[in-house]
Amino acid sequence: MTFKIVLLPGDGVGPEVLAQAVKCLHAVEETFNQHFIFKEAPVGAIAIDKKGVPLPDATLQLCRESDAVLFGAIGDPKYDNNPDAKFRPEQGLLQLRKELGLFANIRPVISHPTLLDKSPLKKNIIDGTDFVIYRELTGGIYFGEKKLNPEGTKASDLCEYTEEEISRIAHLAFKAAKGRKKKLTLVDKANVLESSRLWRKVVTKIGESYPEVALDFLFVDNAAMQIILNPKQFDVILTENMFGDIISDEGSVIGGSIGLLASASIGEESALFEPIHGSYPQAKGKDIANPIASILSAAMLLEHLGLTEEAWAVKKAVDKSLKKGIVTPDLNENSQYGTNQVGDFIAHNIVDIEDDTLMNDENIDLGKSTII
Ligand code: IPM
Ligand code: MG
Repeated sequence: MTFKIVLLPGDGVGPEVLAQAVKCLHAVEETFNQHFIFKEAPVGAIAIDKKGVPLPDATLQLCRESDAVLFGAIGDPKYDNNPDAKFRPEQGLLQLRKELGLFANIRPVISHPTLLDKSPLKKNIIDGTDFVIYRELTGGIYFGEKKLNPEGTKASDLCEYTEEEISRIAHLAFKAAKGRKKKLTLVDKANVLESSRLWRKVVTKIGESYPEVALDFLFVDNAAMQIILNPKQFDVILTENMFGDIISDEGSVIGGSIGLLASASIGEESALFEPIHGSYPQAKGKDIANPIASILSAAMLLEHLGLTEEAWAVKKAVDKSLKKGIVTPDLNENSQYGTNQVGDFIAHNIVDIEDDTLMNDENIDLGKSTII
């Protein structure tokens, strides 16, 4: 089959890691008789530089016409410490999420057996962790009214949710829990926030239609503690936008590196796939950024397109790179492998998952092993 995929490399290490995911998608084409039509467009700081806005209309239009969007990373330090900047790169991503109606952000958190000692958390605590965060992505404090008084001395951000916004992601999360360990934890701050009380009410009601799923509730401060005290207790975590942003970075510590965590952002008509990490500007152009989060985002994209076997092959090839230690320096400070070599190794192993011969360490060093 043929699918239209829009590539949004964005800023910092975005283009480098995205290029590795694209190699893997080429490997999928080669192996599984699928065809991807790739179109690339600017977003973020690079779009501000080139087109004057973080999300040019043409980029948005391309995304609307696509079967899926693969996103790199966004952000540039030159905007971080300038509160007066007219545009910020991150607005591009937020606008894209809103315009494409990507209301559900899905972030799996698993511990890899080979990486247990990379996490600062104790092995026995994280071993066997397997949960997924369903983060609401187009509402809450991110999108509520923002105010700054004329003197610039008082500011506010409104956190608003409607029953409809809560209900559509809650259904997705319950359905996911039904197919997993049948537990759903709503993370909120219902002891303080009115919006959280609405979440509890709506989610409790929806829970009645999913009697096989055990529903429980945690205040976000307690959840932040439980995620590192006993992450194995979780199956599906459902939460609002800001809490989801915070606890998903926290969850990445379990996997051993934020460079491993992929995510899917799903709407009624569009879908976007991106690593949860930022643009890591310090690593830009150094060939050290971990491409695995981007490659696993491509695997989630394949799953979304119904290409389950293809997605499995990508995940298998990633596992193999982790097992064999073909990893970037964030996972092994003595590693001599760079972003490109890890990408080559994984792409090669999608084409021939059993073939170890071409991919010995010597070939990787010489850059001979690439299939692309
Ligand atoms: C994320 C990021 C974004 C967010 C930023 C880049 C706007 O941190 O996807 O988690 O806050 O949602
Ligand atoms: Mg974040």
